[in-house]
Amino acid sequence: MKTIFITGASSGIGLETAKLFSQKGWRVIATMRNPAKGADLAKMPNVVIMPLDVTDPSQIRETCQKALQAYDIDVLLSNAGYAIMAPLERLPENEIRKMFDTDVIGSILVTQQFIPHFKKRRKGAILTTTSLAAFIAFPRDGVYGAAKRAQQSMVESLYYELKPYGVAVKAMIPGGTKTNFQIPINDKVGYEKAAENQREFVSDGNPEFPGPEEAAEIIWQAATDGKDQVRYPTDSVCQKLYDQYINSNYEAFKISFYKRLFES
Ligand SMILES: NC(=O)c1ccc[n+]([C@@H]2O[C@H](COP(=O)([O-])OP(=O)(O)OC[C@H]3O[C@@H](n4cnc5c(N)ncnc54)[C@H](OP(=O)(O)O)[C@@H]3O)[C@@H](O)[C@H]2O)c1
Repeated sequence: MKTIFITGASSGIGLETAKLFSQKGWRVIATMRNPAKGADLAKMPNVVIMPLDVTDPSQIRETCQKALQAYDIDVLLSNAGYAIMAPLERLPENEIRKMFDTDVIGSILVTQQFIPHFKKRRKGAILTTTSLAAFIAFPRDGVYGAAKRAQQSMVESLYYELKPYGVAVKAMIPGGTKTNFQIPINDKVGYEKAAENQREFVSDGNPEFPGPEEAAEIIWQAATDGKDQVRYPTDSVCQKLYDQYINSNYEAFKISFYKRLFES
């Protein structure tokens, strides 16, 4: 039976992906820091819940090794993460470190656990949920953007290391998906109007973001399409902004983006 291992499967994109893969007949190892949140998911076929807080290195080793010994894992989805939005000057050191521990170090340490397995197996895929923030820098996004760019870089470097072994390495890139996307700090002080303009820019006239089902479908495609493709925008909002950004000249984009956020 095909098997996927997911981090941050208690809500949002991770949860929806777990449900979709279970419906498609896969075994799903759904990991989460509070396994009680997986009670409903556990009722779905072939779902195994395991505890995993990605800021806990010993639990990373224990849970990943337990899963690798019990199952032949085809796909890793390293997805756990959260965002902070605040002017750089206002972020306390402990919050900066916590964010990097989760979104960068946590995701790297989980990935490391799976590399020997995939190299030996010579097939399979490592998928990492990064962000549009890995490409477009938004104001009040210095720490989250830095974390997600680091993660994106890790993915794009690992692509080269694992391609000779027949293992796919891909970035799942959300930009605007309606989830419980945690913003423990959403500090707009001094940038209230720009924050509002940014929200309008990102939502692009839509009353709300698409749900995580859209992201889960793209993740399914990435896991099964056999394509040599690294970057997968996972929602329609991200796809549009990503295309616009990637096809523009940075210096010109920066000026028009500034005007849009600060002068409109
Ligand atoms: N939604 C978007 O528009 C968007 C945009 C860009 C990037 N992303 C990325 O997408 C990924 C999934 O987020 P989401 O949108 O689905 O938001 P979400 O509903 O808040 O899901 C985030 C998941 O990460 C888990 N998590 C947070 N810290 C963790 C830790 N230390 N150890 C283990 N799990 C942890 C959460 O667990 P708990 O339930 O325990 O909190 C939850 O399961 C994240 O990496 C996020 O950065 C999302």
